Amino acid sequence: ADVTPFSVRMPVPPVLRPASSGPAGDVYRIPVRAATAEILPGVRTQVLGYGGGFGGPTIRARAGRPVRMVYENTLDAPVNVHLHGGHVPAASDGHPMDLIQPGGSRAYDYPNTQRGATLWYHDHSHGTEAEHVYRGLHGFYLIEGEDEAALRLPAGPYDVPIMLRDSAFDANGELIFFGDPAERSTFLANGKVQPYFPVAARKYRFRLLNAGNERVFRLNLGGVEMIRIGSDGGLLPAPVPVTELVLASAERADIVVDFGRHPVGTRLVLSDGTTPVLRFDVVAQARDTSRVPDRLRPMPSFPAAAVERDVAMSFDLSGSFPVGLVNGRPYDPDRVDFQVKRGTTEIWRVINADTIGIDHTFHMHLAQFEVLDRDGAPPLPQDAGLKDTVHVPPGGSVRVRATFTDHLGRYVYHCHYLEHSSIGMMGQMEVIA
Ligand code: C2O
Ligand code: CU
Repeated sequence: ADVTPFSVRMPVPPVLRPASSGPAGDVYRIPVRAATAEILPGVRTQVLGYGGGFGGPTIRARAGRPVRMVYENTLDAPVNVHLHGGHVPAASDGHPMDLIQPGGSRAYDYPNTQRGATLWYHDHSHGTEAEHVYRGLHGFYLIEGEDEAALRLPAGPYDVPIMLRDSAFDANGELIFFGDPAERSTFLANGKVQPYFPVAARKYRFRLLNAGNERVFRLNLGGVEMIRIGSDGGLLPAPVPVTELVLASAERADIVVDFGRHPVGTRLVLSDGTTPVLRFDVVAQARDTSRVPDRLRPMPSFPAAAVERDVAMSFDLSGSFPVGLVNGRPYDPDRVDFQVKRGTTEIWRVINADTIGIDHTFHMHLAQFEVLDRDGAPPLPQDAGLKDTVHVPPGGSVRVRATFTDHLGRYVYHCHYLEHSSIGMMGQMEVIA
């Protein structure tokens, strides 16, 4: 697709209003439907939409206040919905085999008994999750922590979620799902190709999500400082100024950019290496009473680990189709790979066991974790804070530590390169009392 960069404005996904609210929490309704969207200027592209757009509405939840999401499946294929990073009961986790059949609907209950964080929701129907997400079944679910308002970080219109991903289009402007991933060089921000976004000369909080199925973004603002304040699991202990930000598939980074340091008329380009993704245009003066405090939110303390295990991701390339493996076996919904005792802490050594030079990202359902080390060396800057997804480059290994609390039942863990999980790079644990 030949689009002149910065020719369209980046939209901000609308915040969904609850269908009803009461003492027990808020209820939201979202139909899952086939739709068309203008991703390329002047072209209608067939997509799958939560509520009908390419990229669903944003849910803004509050820590401690339950949310019920009701999804109605109007497609002719089964779907389901997973709240990525959510600490939720197994029945509401969007297990890959727990589907909403065509014509059916389904309620998912999210207690929101977790720290404030930038989460997202997406399809998780086994074998079709990669294509469904690629075609548009993804959206933001933000939890605001009770501790957050007092920090006076940029808020309201100055707190902007930005979903980054890539896409390939054919000559008619339709999405190509099975392309060569290396050719997916068309970058989208909130569903538009390399858009611009007008900003005022003040601080903004951006919630960056890499929603690309198979990609690592190495983002820079042309040397301009970005203050990293949050990770997958919400606020970091303290802000970290950076000029480059590495985000692998499904990872999030909350950053603050102070456009008040730049005169009106300045244009700052967010790029992946040298390829532009999004341009910020400083267009107006504005008052700014927000700040970035020196202390944000301490890390939780993890009890001593009772168990250590290895989780190795690889491919079996011996047949006519590649098969994804975890610890040598493809996903089998009827097999529980191991049991975890509720309340215990475990250390997992996550290994990229391939010799073919392919990246993986590892995602654990139910619990968020702390990255302890990489190949025995200290974690990288992008590993800081509470995480639920971690980049595991070829030949690498990452040790993570998590505590499994509250909920019992079966949860999956998998590579979040969704083309890999959809062909088997996924395992299943069972949390027992
Ligand atoms: Cu974001 Cu199991 O997925
Ligand atoms: Cu993978």
